[in-house]
Order: sequence, then structure tokens, then C-alpha cells
Amino acid sequence: MDINRGTCWYSKGCANQMRRAVEETWWAPLDKSGHYGSLIKLLDVAFFEGCKTLIDVGCGVGTLQELPYVREHFTATGVDLPDVVDKAAIPLNPNGHFIRCDIVDDEPDISFLGGYDLVIMNGFIDVMQHPLHVLDRILKHCKGHVLLHRQYLTEGPTYLTMHDSYGGESYASHINRRELDDVLEHNYVGIKRICLRSNEEWPDIYSFLWDVTP
Ligand SMILES: C[S@@+](CC[C@H](N)C(=O)[O-])C[C@H]1O[C@@H](n2cnc3c(N)ncnc32)[C@H](O)[C@@H]1O
Repeated sequence: MDINRGTCWYSKGCANQMRRAVEETWWAPLDKSGHYGSLIKLLDVAFFEGCKTLIDVGCGVGTLQELPYVREHFTATGVDLPDVVDKAAIPLNPNGHFIRCDIVDDEPDISFLGGYDLVIMNGFIDVMQHPLHVLDRILKHCKGHVLLHRQYLTEGPTYLTMHDSYGGESYASHINRRELDDVLEHNYVGIKRICLRSNEEWPDIYSFLWDVTP
């Protein structure tokens, strides 16, 4: 499968750009972003549902695990590409917990995702070239709750756009609402949809909380 190799995430300068974006404050911190409120509400529901451990897939610089709410309520780990973990996440959050892994590569074993009560994808599936395939791959390993945060949905066919991001280009996927449902329903019988929220700032961007406990 063609797996995003041409995107900025695999470029040499990406991790350094991500680190500089934080250090030089070109990037709004997570707790100042327009989607922070919906993220915290869904995390709160997940906590209420009994989740205690979480893994943040495509964690970037690792700010989610530094949020006071997260530190207070969860034991958190982030996973991202090795270069991003080594050159951006660890330098900025030396006390964080990180796993180096290409989550869409067919080789690495990602069954470790099943060891967490909550799997979060925050701005991760939407940057994928094959978003439904990657979501399907991840969900197959999840054994608890899943929070898909910040995903464009469309009533029309699924489509991709490209945009500038961290020294290169990234995909932005807009997923057909019914195709997303098909991935969930055909593969995960018994899935419990707990919450769906549209983003405060951008109404076509959604966040979901699912219970995929077998
Ligand atoms: C749009 S950023 C979101 C970062 C972070 N979740 C946030 O909201 O600030 C997408 C993240 O996905 C990571 N990523 C892209 N492809 C990946 C892959 N194949 N495996 C693991 N992480 C990946 C990138 O390195 C980047 O950190």
C-alpha cells in the first residue's frame, strides 16, 4: 500500500519544524485551540466510562499528555514516527512516555494498542492518504474505547485535499459519513457509539467516542 511516504511527516525537516513551532510559538497550544473544549468533554466521558490509561496515536510533540486534565485523570503514552519522538516530543517533554512506531507500516506489530483503555487519534486519521484503511487497521487492535478527534466528514464521496504542513505537504481527508459507518459496522459488531460532537469552530469537523470492547 502507498502509505503517505511523500508527505511532510516523512520529510527530514518535519520533526525540527514541529519542535520550532512550539518553541517559537507559531503554533497555538492545545489548551488554547478551538477544539480543546470538545476534546476535554470527550475525555471526561471516557474517564467516567472507566478509562484510566490512554495512548495518543500520532501524538506529535506530546502536548496532550502534558495537559493538567490528562495528568490528573490518566496514565498517558504517545506514539509517533521515530524522528518526531526523538527530535520533537522528547526534547519538549522529557518526562513524557513515548513509543517510536510507524503505525501505518505493515511490518510493526501494533497490538500494543490493545493494552490501553483509550486509544486517541487527534488530527491523525485526517492526515492519512487512506484514512479508512488506517482506521480499520488501528481499530482491529483496540480493546476498549476509541476517541477519534478532529475528522472532516462529508455527505458526498470521500476525497483528499493537500495542504502545507511542517516543511512539506500533508493530506486532509474528508470521509463520507456512510463509509465511516461501514468501517465500524462491518468490522466491529457490537460497537457502542457514545458521543459525537461537531467542532465549536469548524462545524464539518467531528469528534467521536466509541466503545469497541469485544
Ligand atoms: C496533524 S499532526 C497531529 C499531531 C498531534 N496529534 C496534535 O494534534 O498536535 C499528525 C501527526 O501524525 C504523525 N504521523 C503521521 N504519520 C504517522 C505514522 N505513519 N505513524 C505514526 N505517526 C504518524 C505525524 O508525525 C504528526 O505528529
